[in-house]
Amino acid sequence: MSHSNALDSLLSEIRRFAVPADFSAQANINSADYAQLCAQAETDPEAFWSALARQHLSWHQPFTEVLDERRAPFYRWFADGSLNVAHNCLDRHLHGATRHKAALIWEGEDGAVRTFTYAQLHREVSRFANALRHQGIEADDRVAIYMPMVPEAVIAMLACARIGAIHTVVFGGFSAEALKDRLEDTGAKLLITADGAWRAGKAVPLKRHADQALLREHEHQVEKVIVLRHTNADIDLQEGRDLWWEDALAGMESSCPALPFNAEHPLFILYTSGSTGKPKGVVHSSAGYLLWALLTVRWVFDLKPEDVYWCTADIGWITGHSYTVYGPLANGATVFLYEGAPMHPHPDRFWAMIERHGVSIFYTAPTAIRAFMKMGQEWPERHDLSSLRLLGTVGEPMNPEAWMWYYETIGGGRCPIADTWWQTETGGHMIAPLPGVTSTKPGSCALPLPGIHARIVDEAGQPIDKPEAGGYLVMEKPWPGMLRGIWGDDARYVESYWAKFGNRYYVAGDSARRDADGYYWVMGRIDDVLNVSGHRLGTAEIESALVAHPAVAEAAVVGIPHEIKGEAICAFVVLRASHAGDDRDTLGASLRAHVAELIGPIARPDDVRITDTLPKTRSGKIMRRLLRAIARGEEIAQDISTLEDEGVVRELQK
Ligand code: WTA
Repeated sequence: MSHSNALDSLLSEIRRFAVPADFSAQANINSADYAQLCAQAETDPEAFWSALARQHLSWHQPFTEVLDERRAPFYRWFADGSLNVAHNCLDRHLHGATRHKAALIWEGEDGAVRTFTYAQLHREVSRFANALRHQGIEADDRVAIYMPMVPEAVIAMLACARIGAIHTVVFGGFSAEALKDRLEDTGAKLLITADGAWRAGKAVPLKRHADQALLREHEHQVEKVIVLRHTNADIDLQEGRDLWWEDALAGMESSCPALPFNAEHPLFILYTSGSTGKPKGVVHSSAGYLLWALLTVRWVFDLKPEDVYWCTADIGWITGHSYTVYGPLANGATVFLYEGAPMHPHPDRFWAMIERHGVSIFYTAPTAIRAFMKMGQEWPERHDLSSLRLLGTVGEPMNPEAWMWYYETIGGGRCPIADTWWQTETGGHMIAPLPGVTSTKPGSCALPLPGIHARIVDEAGQPIDKPEAGGYLVMEKPWPGMLRGIWGDDARYVESYWAKFGNRYYVAGDSARRDADGYYWVMGRIDDVLNVSGHRLGTAEIESALVAHPAVAEAAVVGIPHEIKGEAICAFVVLRASHAGDDRDTLGASLRAHVAELIGPIARPDDVRITDTLPKTRSGKIMRRLLRAIARGEEIAQDISTLEDEGVVRELQK
């Protein structure tokens, strides 16, 4: 396995796919545009960003200042301008043909289809915005959204944006506990949820999780809960607190002014895992974020008015925010949405929907591609995929083998693949090929986009220019889509992203190398963050969940390579003396279930190994790199001289 992987990535350096001539002839960005953008970004970054922001966004009050660096690394963009994000995503498309164009086409797991034109979406968002106001929500209030992948989730997000409320979307696959943490941290006043969500024919009880999350009233500030009826699950509505979505809408007007908000007004908070402690509430701005989401959709996905665009990410992740909601809608695109399991009822579900809805741009994750590849090409071969013209991936490094399968079997050898490197914090794509310009190499995310100044630096922060030498991936200059901070924790923002190199660079937390052509190859996280099926999980979160179990005294979590998920979770657990005699199989199963319960099924460890001790340095730090090698069954080549007790290694290897 590792041998053929190594061989594959060697080969991939040779394999290179040129831009098809017919693609570049029609592309939004061709080589000449690209050269011009790069030159402008280099010589006068402020003029570059300013021109783009004026051209692509509708401003209530145009800005006069582009970048404010006075409180760096707390950068501000276009800070004396004002606009309304929902206006930019909806109202400005209501003139001309776009008015009656489909904005959203939704398909449910049972095959039901619902479509909203821009005019209809505008009306629904306005009504729901009025409903939020009627429930006492004002600008700056936080609103949590814990919803299935249904049009109402998008409506809820845009309604918040319309009235300046700050949304925080919590992935519907997260547990009650995870929801509770986010409600508490944001101080959300209102929660929007549904009775349930569909997943592989089963109804996930969202409202029940919400009730659990809200149980201890002194620990949160939620006053109202709006509940969408979706699965018809039997639920309880708490008098005075809960109301149905339809009832919240009753009597609401279908017009709601899109008031201007400052460019820097926080649009949303989205939680993501870091190396230590609880997930961080990443804060994004209104104008800068929207600009970058909008531009990258045009540049990287080459979006055209006639495209049917589908990003498979749930809106609970940043990919869903930037590339299902804000980026495409700001461009007036037709967005396809699907609620349900990817292989339900059969492994050709995605391909059937691409055919049925004529999807032309398709964006998904390597983990999904690997899973489909494993099911065999007979599933996609049953469908006419000729509507596709561009494919994208995000979430983790793409294995060259999966890249080739995606290219040939799904793209018919005709669609450029955009391997997009970016993060929750970056707001939008950072390193990605431009389909009309950049030839692609399987496994590489190609080159930084115009305006993005990526560098690879060594431990001392010195740029590494030598090809193939790995180092820290950093950004040398701010960009409009960057995060504005961590909710309620300025110190953690500086500590997590800037402090390592004295605030000189934004530190992404990934390692990368560059080949002789300048192409970037992202190698993975440098910290204790796992990437499971393209989702970031902090080892600290999972360890805390394990230690919260009565049988566990201590836990250490590491990632091991996994064919489909990219990384699987392996937990080493030391039991409390009182549980030393417990049946290990039963306990292992109950610990796995316990983590899923506390965080969500995506965090369920694949492997739980019960051990007497954990390897620690003399200063008491758990040596995760050693555990990683043990979990992977590798030979221990590393220095274990700092280990407190070398006998632990033999013990663990057993
Ligand atoms: C990883 C998802 C290699 C990376 C948008 C990053 C990737 C983390 C790629 C961010 C890619 C994302 N190639 N690695 N194309 N895209 N990653 O915040 O480790 O959920 O730091 O944002 O995913 O994950 P996040």
